[in-house]
Amino acid sequence: MSDTIYIKSKSEIEILRQAAKIAAGARSMGRQAVRDGLTTRQIDKAVHEFIVKSGAKPSCLGYAGFPAATCVSVNEEVIHGIPGRRVVRNGDIVSIDLCATYRGFIGDCAGTYPCGEVSDEAKRLIEVTRQAFFEGLRFAKAGYRISDIGGAVQDYVEANGYSVVRDFVGHGIGRDMHEAPEVPNYRTQRARPNPRLVKGMTICVEPMVCAGDWHVEILDDGWTVVSRDRSLAAHYENTILITDGEPEILTMADDI
Ligand code: MF3
Ligand code: CO
Repeated sequence: MSDTIYIKSKSEIEILRQAAKIAAGARSMGRQAVRDGLTTRQIDKAVHEFIVKSGAKPSCLGYAGFPAATCVSVNEEVIHGIPGRRVVRNGDIVSIDLCATYRGFIGDCAGTYPCGEVSDEAKRLIEVTRQAFFEGLRFAKAGYRISDIGGAVQDYVEANGYSVVRDFVGHGIGRDMHEAPEVPNYRTQRARPNPRLVKGMTICVEPMVCAGDWHVEILDDGWTVVSRDRSLAAHYENTILITDGEPEILTMADDI
């Protein structure tokens, strides 16, 4: 990844806003497909069809060889689950992560949703992960540094008895899915780049949270990231725009 942070112009932001809106709509479609008896492939299909129908492209399909439009990760799967024949059942929690490319710009968002009635612990994990995003967002303002976001995410998650994944991080976004800077969900060593936020930066803040320990491993399929202790995991992500004042959540929708 290049170290260059691309500050977006007004017209670029306008296009990114549209890409992000499509991504948010696709996430809603995926969420509605989290139903007892449906396969993870059917969830992917709902997302994929929405993106195409909206005049956009599913950016994850073919990205580094990923074989689908959507990452669908169930229970102890944290991220990058490959959609397939697995049937989702009541009590499962399902993370959906997708990107849409529209007129050359990419919107990226994710969320974890319950299938039917889930355990109180699973509900709490989902809610803490979502709220962790909003805790981080308080520092997503011009003048703060990248690590202020991650520090707030980490503090909130750990105060609630959970852990943040270290091996994967949020990122800048624009014409590329992953642009500088990295946006970790934890406080980093001084040696790591920790730029100040400035107006016109567009980044993805995406807490990945484990109910148990933060260590993860990758399954033999080469993609699926699971918690090493197989504890439940959740993910919540939005593409945001740094402004002079409050950040703008570009992938916002009514139901997230
Ligand atoms: N949306 C993910 C992210 O936040 C990327 C998915 S990986 C892919 O970076 F290979 F599926 F694209
Ligand atoms: Co992302």
